[in-house]
Amino acid sequence: MPTTHAPATDPDQLVPAAEQSAVRTLLRLWPYVRPVRARWAGAAAVAVVASCLSLVFPIVLKWIVDGPVTDHDPGGVWLGAGMLLALGVTEALLFGLRRWLVARPLASVEAAMRGDLFRHLQRLPVAFHDRWASGQLLSRGTTDLMVVRMFLAFPLTFLIVNGVTIVAGFVLLIAQDWGLGLVLLAPALPLMVLCYRFESTYASAARRAQDQVGDLTTVVEESVLGIRIIKGFGRHRSQARAFRDLSHTLRGTELTKARLLAGILGVITLLPEMALGAALVLGSVQVADGKLSAGTLVAFLSTALALRWPIDSIGFLLAMSQEAATATRRFFEVMDEPEESEGVSAAGAPAAEDGAGGLRFEGVRFRYPDAPDASEPVLERIDLHVRSGETMALVGATGSGKTTLTALVPRLHELTGGRITLDGRDIGSMEREELRTLVSVAFEEPTLFSASVAENVLMGAVEADAAQLDRALGVAQAGFVKALPDAAGTQVGEQGLSLSGGQRQRLALARAVVGSPRFLVLDDPLSALDVHTEALVEAALREVLAASTALVVAHRPSTVLLADRVALLSGGRITAVGTHQELLRANAEYRHLMSGADLQREDDGPLGPEGKGTR
Ligand SMILES: Nc1ncnc2c1ncn2[C@@H]1O[C@H](COP(=O)(O)OP(=O)(O)OP(=O)(O)O)[C@@H](O)[C@H]1O
Ligand SMILES: [Mg+2]
Repeated sequence: MPTTHAPATDPDQLVPAAEQSAVRTLLRLWPYVRPVRARWAGAAAVAVVASCLSLVFPIVLKWIVDGPVTDHDPGGVWLGAGMLLALGVTEALLFGLRRWLVARPLASVEAAMRGDLFRHLQRLPVAFHDRWASGQLLSRGTTDLMVVRMFLAFPLTFLIVNGVTIVAGFVLLIAQDWGLGLVLLAPALPLMVLCYRFESTYASAARRAQDQVGDLTTVVEESVLGIRIIKGFGRHRSQARAFRDLSHTLRGTELTKARLLAGILGVITLLPEMALGAALVLGSVQVADGKLSAGTLVAFLSTALALRWPIDSIGFLLAMSQEAATATRRFFEVMDEPEESEGVSAAGAPAAEDGAGGLRFEGVRFRYPDAPDASEPVLERIDLHVRSGETMALVGATGSGKTTLTALVPRLHELTGGRITLDGRDIGSMEREELRTLVSVAFEEPTLFSASVAENVLMGAVEADAAQLDRALGVAQAGFVKALPDAAGTQVGEQGLSLSGGQRQRLALARAVVGSPRFLVLDDPLSALDVHTEALVEAALREVLAASTALVVAHRPSTVLLADRVALLSGGRITAVGTHQELLRANAEYRHLMSGADLQREDDGPLGPEGKGTR
């Protein structure tokens, strides 16, 4: 699931376009192109042959003009015409063959790159997703990859094909008449300088455009996901304005690109055209003087004309290559991000010593990687021991770091300092997969995927059977599932039936308990339930909690009462541990947090059975 509220692209991520040359960047595509290299090279070779065939036309023309035409031999002219027709048909067939050769392999290159990107995104740490806007990731997986595929199919081949054709053409021109050939060749040097300068300017415009597409995607995605808030607050105008501004900026960038391209195309067409005009005049004078045969001049000019498209196209081929380089760079920016590190296998991990069982935090320090440098860490020094089989409630003011602390147990974030052990084993030395089968979590925000109820719940334990599923739904008091159109087979999530907040929360809870995990971490799992349902869930949850070691974030006294002991989180430390009664008696802050909740609940009385205001 992409994060939806991450900030727009961090400017630090935008690598200056000039940092790595386009060629070096594009060479990184090689691993993906490798499997299809034979077909691709075959297609390119076919295209080179087809393109060079066009250079044979002038030779045939020269033969016709200097031979049959001069000799007044109609049969010879027909023969020549037949040869030209055959050449034309062959050329067309070869270009068709090229297209057929590359289409399928290149689609598979795109699919492979997209697959790798998706897999990589799944393995990147949560911290990465906190940092990157989802639209930037989406646009990399869609638009950018399409640009890359088109580059492999078209500009890359034709840069080679046209390059070979131009060189072969000029060899022919010089061979026919070196003086006229040099006149035509004269614009080459200034054109190369111009193309080089154009490339770097165009590269930065292309980069800007692609990043802006990413920002635009983010706005579209947020407006769709946040449609209720936008409508509820009547913000569609401002949202539309944000969209319009961004798309206006993008339009500006695209226009800049078009202007640059128009400029270079103009020059690329004009200079050779002028050289051709000069050659035509000089050539005609030479023919008039009898220094040159008419056939040679015809052949010379038609060779030059055959080279027009290859030369004219260089400009936009370079532009497309530049865009492909940018797209590739954007793709690898994500691919180069390090995946979650595996646990460093501690040689001979210590066996559970006496008293080391259960879940233990030792001197745990944590600060978010993207937090400002000067800020205090969220968790300063956490020392806490949840004994084996015990249920510990975690209480603290809002923003005190409870969610952060719970996310450390399944290693969604890496500790800044200290260690966390499960039955004496450091979680840093465990394989992630093992860790995540030991620990089950239910988060504050219950997320359902577009899948059936059963599939959503069984994400918690893939191998669980129907009986376990029923039990888990029972614990979570998710009886409403039976009333759904297709019971547990009903599709929910974005593409399915919409469930209420409390219903989603109960499914998330069922997901956490379905595998009867040894360690259970619940972040305020009952916040959206009415008091009666909450009481029922609590009664059922007691059994599950008795069998596992649990850390439960709680805001209300009723949830706290599920726990054997309570830990109070304050100022980045655990400032008190004890039973609910003990803490009520001995700790003013705890008393304040709990009594506040109680008072508010009483105030809410007739209004809200939802227990609102308790958070
Ligand atoms: N991804 C993040 N990046 C940077 N800072 C974060 C991130 N998530 C949370 N924080 C900060 O960490 C602090 C603790 O947040 P946390 O969500 O752990 O609080 P909490 O105790 O769960 O609050 P609540 O009771 O409202 O759920 C907050 O100041 C918050 O701004
Ligand atoms: Mg929280």
